[in-house]
Amino acid sequence: MNAEPIDRHEFRNLMRNIAGQVSVVATGTPGHRKGLTASAVCSLTDLPPTVIVCVNRAAAAHDLIIEHGFFSVNALATGQETIARVFSGMAGASGEQRFETGEWSVGVTGAPVLASAVCHLECRLSEYREASSHTVFFGQVIAGSASADANPLLYHRGSYIGLEAPEREEAFLAAAKTK
Ligand SMILES: Cc1cc2nc3c(=O)[nH]c(=O)nc-3n(C[C@H](O)[C@H](O)[C@H](O)COP(=O)(O)O)c2cc1C
Repeated sequence: MNAEPIDRHEFRNLMRNIAGQVSVVATGTPGHRKGLTASAVCSLTDLPPTVIVCVNRAAAAHDLIIEHGFFSVNALATGQETIARVFSGMAGASGEQRFETGEWSVGVTGAPVLASAVCHLECRLSEYREASSHTVFFGQVIAGSASADANPLLYHRGSYIGLEAPEREEAFLAAAKTK
């Protein structure tokens, strides 16, 4: 067996099939904020509550996350595709300009938070590890809030996909109860 890694383009072609929640990772204080669209966000453990976020070392927000020591993860909702495009640099905006899209406020840690997100988490950077082109940031979750009626925004095969409300499942469960 050849144990060498596959070609990076082949890897990208495989990975684009895996649907992921679209988030904005944001840091800094008003006037000095930076953020990026990210799908490499994952819950690590609840002992203590920790998430990991993988950020390209070339991203403008990368160094500020380390400098500021706090960051937020804002899981975008269906209908927030424009925010995803702005924070991925597609609209040409950078730094503070990106925060003109969406209703951003200051969280308890000082990090920017988007209350209309499906869920937002505020994290204290507990450690970070460089891994090739990216850095894995470990964030202990200090605070968070969810919008129960919002549905998530996913990215799959190069397109944004807003999830519908899970009505069918709820209707199925309600019907099952009456039997
Ligand atoms: C759907 C989607 C997911 C992304 N996920 C990540 C990610 O997890 N980590 C990352 O470093 N960049 C990710 N990117 C790329 C960054 O959003 C993009 O490079 C951004 O412009 C970096 O910020 P900068 O322009 O301020 O350097 C993603 C882009 C898109 C469209």
